[in-house]
Amino acid sequence: MNQEKRLYNITTFGCQMNKADSERMAGILENMGFEFTEDPNQAKVLVYNTCTIRDNAEQKVYSYLGRQAKRKHQEPDLTLVVAGCVAQQEGEQLLRRVPELDLVMGPQHANRLDSLLEQVFAGNQIVATEPIHIYEDITKPRRESEVSAWVNIIYGCNERCSYCVVPNVRGVEQSRTPEAIKAEIEELAKQGYKEITLLGQNIDAYGRDLPGVTETGRHKHTLTDLLYYIHDIEGIERIRFATSHPRYFTERLIKACYELPKVCEHFHIPFQSGDNEILKAMKRGYTHERYRDIIAKIREYMPDAAISADAIVGFPGETEEQFQNTLKLVEDIGFDQLNTAAYSPRPNTPAAEWENQIDEQEKSDRLQRLNHLVAIKAGERSLRYQDRIEEVLVEDINPKDTTQVMGRTRGNRLTFFAGNLAELKGKVVSVKITEVRAFSLTGNALSLATV
Ligand code: SAH
Ligand code: SF4
Ligand code: F3S
Repeated sequence: MNQEKRLYNITTFGCQMNKADSERMAGILENMGFEFTEDPNQAKVLVYNTCTIRDNAEQKVYSYLGRQAKRKHQEPDLTLVVAGCVAQQEGEQLLRRVPELDLVMGPQHANRLDSLLEQVFAGNQIVATEPIHIYEDITKPRRESEVSAWVNIIYGCNERCSYCVVPNVRGVEQSRTPEAIKAEIEELAKQGYKEITLLGQNIDAYGRDLPGVTETGRHKHTLTDLLYYIHDIEGIERIRFATSHPRYFTERLIKACYELPKVCEHFHIPFQSGDNEILKAMKRGYTHERYRDIIAKIREYMPDAAISADAIVGFPGETEEQFQNTLKLVEDIGFDQLNTAAYSPRPNTPAAEWENQIDEQEKSDRLQRLNHLVAIKAGERSLRYQDRIEEVLVEDINPKDTTQVMGRTRGNRLTFFAGNLAELKGKVVSVKITEVRAFSLTGNALSLATV
């Protein structure tokens, strides 16, 4: 065949859910005979997997699209695809805004990319945003890492936080069956993966939509049960999960994490605000006292557990005093990491309509003050690693110093040490920590840890 290779590129914005979807879409494209190129300008199929959680995430997409839409006038055989959350939010309107697009597809349709593209190649312009049952995907994802893999266990979100677009764009919760999840992890173990991260918007809500109840009236399938069910898969050495919602985080789950040696002591549990009035207006369904109790319980079982979270500042109506309650929570808990954001009004969410919006300047001022505190607290939390021996799962080379490899501790701290990637990739190494920074560590390898 003298036919030119058909190249594709995917640009991914947003959260781990989108990254996992992109890996599955890349797998589908390779299955169709396309080959990956780093350079979007060389690609004949260009996918933008988009995020709309905040306005700046959405605007970024339009600037990328504008450039490629122009290119299409010179190269009519270029196929332009917008996938993900902006696609779902905007649907047909996106075609009006960028008529050069060939395919607009919501996140629930990621696993159908092949059949949608067939329709495009047959000459159609397609919008796929209707809610569907998400099919099990039988093609292999093209995964970024060869050591650590994401495994979706629940799609969508059934909450209605008053600021958030996710339920609009990701649809209602759909849990995969324990059997399908186990089969995927067994396959990953066979391919040599050492670590899996179970993924869901509210991962601890897993299983609510699956049939069956226990004798005590509990849902038969919960995240806790799933952890026990998948724990012993040979070859997998570490299990993580994200993101947890405080409302569904149970002591039973904490106990399972404590009991199961492969489950890492790192918990990502967003609190959003440290003020009860704001939490109520956000419709989060818990108080800051309840949040503190969860963290205390985790620390009772696992005193050294790493805790990370998300928080929003400048939610409509937030007073200085209420913002201070967020600072106080951060001060008291001492997070290992915190993702912070200024509130951004989003289309079709209740809070965007409220009149008591906070001034942009004030929001960015609060954001800065919070970030300052976060860095101090993370630095303090890092101190406990000094001179300790940590188990590091080696993933890659340190891009800033190629004599070093990098990996993560069980608590998810990024760690660098001198070593040879070819020899160490995928291995768990005991590392003596010699230098600590707020969000990363440096050390010396002692030996391969016995696992
Ligand atoms: N399901 C998770 C988080 C999903 S969205 C949870 O409920 O905790 C990821 C994060 O984006 C949220 O935790 C929140 O901090 C942030 N976020 C969501 N909507 C936002 C908005 N309108 N403005 C600013 N940040 C927002
Ligand atoms: Fe958004 Fe709330 Fe659902 Fe999280 S739980 S994805 S913040 S609606
Ligand atoms: Fe963004 Fe969609 Fe994730 S809006 S944060 S990519 S669920």
